[in-house]
Formats: sequence, C-alpha cells, structure tokens
Amino acid sequence: MSILERDQQYVWHPYTQMKTAPLPIPIVRGEGAWLYDENGRAYLDAVSSWWVNIHGHAHPFLAERVNAQFHTLEHIIFAGFTHPPAVELAEQLVQVLPDNQARIFYSDNGSTAVEIGIKMAVQYFYNQGQARPKIIAFENGFHGETFGAMAASSPFAFNRAWQDMLFQVERIPVPLAGQEAESLAALDKILATEEVAAFLFEPLIQGAGGMVMYSPEALDALIEKCREAGVLCIADEVMTGFGRTGRLFASDYLKNPPDIMCMSKGLTGGSLPLAVTSCTQAIYDEFWSDDKMKAFYHGHSYTANPLGCAAALASLELMLGKERQQDIPRIQARHETFMQKIAGHPALSDIRCRGTIIAFEFISPAATGYFNQLRDQLYNFFLDRGLLLRPLGNVIYIMPPYCITDEELQLLYDAIEAAMAWHHNQLQSLIAKSEADS
Ligand SMILES: Cc1ncc(COP(=O)(O)O)c(C=O)c1O
Repeated sequence: MSILERDQQYVWHPYTQMKTAPLPIPIVRGEGAWLYDENGRAYLDAVSSWWVNIHGHAHPFLAERVNAQFHTLEHIIFAGFTHPPAVELAEQLVQVLPDNQARIFYSDNGSTAVEIGIKMAVQYFYNQGQARPKIIAFENGFHGETFGAMAASSPFAFNRAWQDMLFQVERIPVPLAGQEAESLAALDKILATEEVAAFLFEPLIQGAGGMVMYSPEALDALIEKCREAGVLCIADEVMTGFGRTGRLFASDYLKNPPDIMCMSKGLTGGSLPLAVTSCTQAIYDEFWSDDKMKAFYHGHSYTANPLGCAAALASLELMLGKERQQDIPRIQARHETFMQKIAGHPALSDIRCRGTIIAFEFISPAATGYFNQLRDQLYNFFLDRGLLLRPLGNVIYIMPPYCITDEELQLLYDAIEAAMAWHHNQLQSLIAKSEADS
C-alpha cells in the first residue's frame, strides 16, 4: 500500500473535512525552501510550512545539534530538574528580547504559550488579592486552539461548536490606518467599566485573520492606555517572532514593550515543537513567595524538552548570523519592489507588506472569508505550478523561509501576476454576464 492509502485508512488531518477534501500530498523530503513528494515532484514552500520554518527544510546544522543532544539527554521532567540547553536558551532569549523581559516559561506550542500568558496575567492580580477576570483582545484576532486561546480569538466559524463554553472576552477594533481613534475609544470605555487583567494582541500583523497590518504607533497608544490603567499587555508573537516583521520581534518596533510575550513557530526554526512565554521581573515577583499557593501551577510533559531547546539554540545562532541578517532586508526589499510594480492592479483590492511578509487581497465578488471558493481556486492554481501558497480566503501571502533565493522569490511573483491576470479575466466575464442578464 502507498503512503497515501495507508494515510487514508487511519489518519485524521487537522483543519480538513476528511470526506470532501482532496487527498493530501505525501511529502517525503525537504531541502532549503523546497519540498518533494514521493514521485519526486517539487513544491516551493512559500508559507514556511504553517509559518514555522525560517532556515529551510532539513537544515543540516539543526539536524546536527539535535542529533548531538539526542545522544546526550532527550528528556527530563522540568519540575525539580533542569538541564543545560533550557538554561542556555533562557539566557540567550533574555538577551535578545525587549529589555523588560526577565523570565522564560517553557511549553510546547503557540496555543499553550498564549494560554500561559493569560493564566499568568490573571494570577498576577489574584496573588495580590485582586479579582480581574476580564481579557481584552482585538476583533479579527487568532491566538490558537485551546479553550483560552479560542476564547481570546475572534469567534471564527470553525469554533461554533464550542462557542457557548468559552469565557467572555472584551473586543476592540483593530487600529487600522484611519481607525486608530475608534480603537482607542473602545479600549478606554472597557478600561473604565471592567476589571481587566490583560490586553492580548498580535503585534502589527494579524496572521490568520488575513495578514491584516497596523502601525506600531497605534499599538503603542493602546499599550500606554493599558499601562495607565495598570492592565498587563500580552504580545502574541507566535507568528511575528523571529524576524517575520523585519526585526527580531514585532515588539522591537514599540516604545512601550509588552509585559508578557508568547513565542513558538520560528523558535526552533520549524523543526521541533517548543514554545516560550516570557515576562517581566515585576510579574515574576508576584509569584515569588513563601506561600506555596502563589506558585504558577502550570506545566506540560514536554515543558523545555532538551531536543527542542537544542534546536532553538541552533536556530537562534543561525538567526543572529550574518547570512540571515542580510536575507531579511533582502526579502523585504524584493517584496517592496514587487509591490510597487503591481500597485493599482484591477484584480486586487489591497497589497500590504511588512518585513518578510507580503499579502495580496484579491477582489472578491462573493462575501470574503475563509470559505470563499476563490480560496480553493487560488490554492490549486499555485499548487499546479509547484508552489505552496495557502490563501486565507481571498488573501494570498508570501511568508517564506529566509533562505529563499531571489530567483525562487521571482517564481512566486510571476505566478502571483499570472493569478492576478486570471482573476481579472474571471471578474470581467462575471461583469459581462451580469450586464447581459440585466
Ligand atoms: C498569532 C498566533 N497565535 C497562536 C497560534 C497557535 O499556535 P499553535 O498552532 O502552535 O498552537 C497561531 C497559529 O497560527 C498564531 O498565528
């Protein structure tokens, strides 16, 4: 039996209607920005394999370091024990995170990093004898799949089954250009009436919500308001962290750094599951006590797994190296040139770019959104050309591994231009048909 036949017999895939979805593509090997299926067909990975991969696939340096760690120590319970890679990684992260970040709490995926951030913020006040049960988050946000992260996320259609079980979160509009005052006023109103523990946000770019971008200045103004009200700010850098926005963290653009930061995805260069929730000394100090009940009672079997920490150390070394530091502005410059070239194209309602992420919003005659049929058409359009681009509704984006070459980027730009021309023709035919019908 082929891998595909065996897959279909027992495997249940995420985000997939198993009955109607096309068969998955069996990938057997990766190298650089390329993935290869069992027939040797190549796919250029323009989405960093669910936004995790930053140095390219099967990177030999990561493999070597993880392999060496595996031969030394593969796992140790992280309560009552510690190990060199976890300590070293914490030391290095504190050096590169915004200056106010002082403590590193480990877990194993982006959702748990957020869950921990929320729990930490609420208990920070609880330990001081204050009940602050409210969280504020942006409309259109996405923070993950666990219950707390789902509650903090916008009520997406996929979460309908559990909607009544989620705790209530106060929402404010995203401070898009021209709507900053509206967002600030909504925040003000909530701060005046509710007992709020934290404001949770995806800094500068809302990923799953369609690569929606807003300015550091607008976020700074919101954080400042929270600071005045004594409310903690949690930056969900699960997607934006490790260079995606052009700087190491999106929070590096801010004058007011967040109190808590959540990271995962790029942390291990996309090789092993690991996550970090960092916080300030002031937060940590509220848990530091002779009273056992003030401890943070949260942990996972794989908290600070040594293999994950070794991968993260290797990834960080590459990330801070000369090559990556040149790749990031190179990709950004290439994106900006392409953006200028196609500005005003009639197939697009918007193009936006920050750092290594560029997004193209295709004009959609139907209601926009994830279930838009355009999404599947575009996905297949690119896949047929050996390009892995996974649209978010009518938004196409490129978020590549940083090792992607200029030539490989050009393949993507050419295909996107072809898709724009195809889409424009489709729109023209629709208009002609509706004129003929009326
Ligand atoms: C901003 C953000 N937060 C949290 C998550 C959840 O991360 P994970 O899928 O590792 O649980 C994601 C995943 O896409 C994300 O984009």
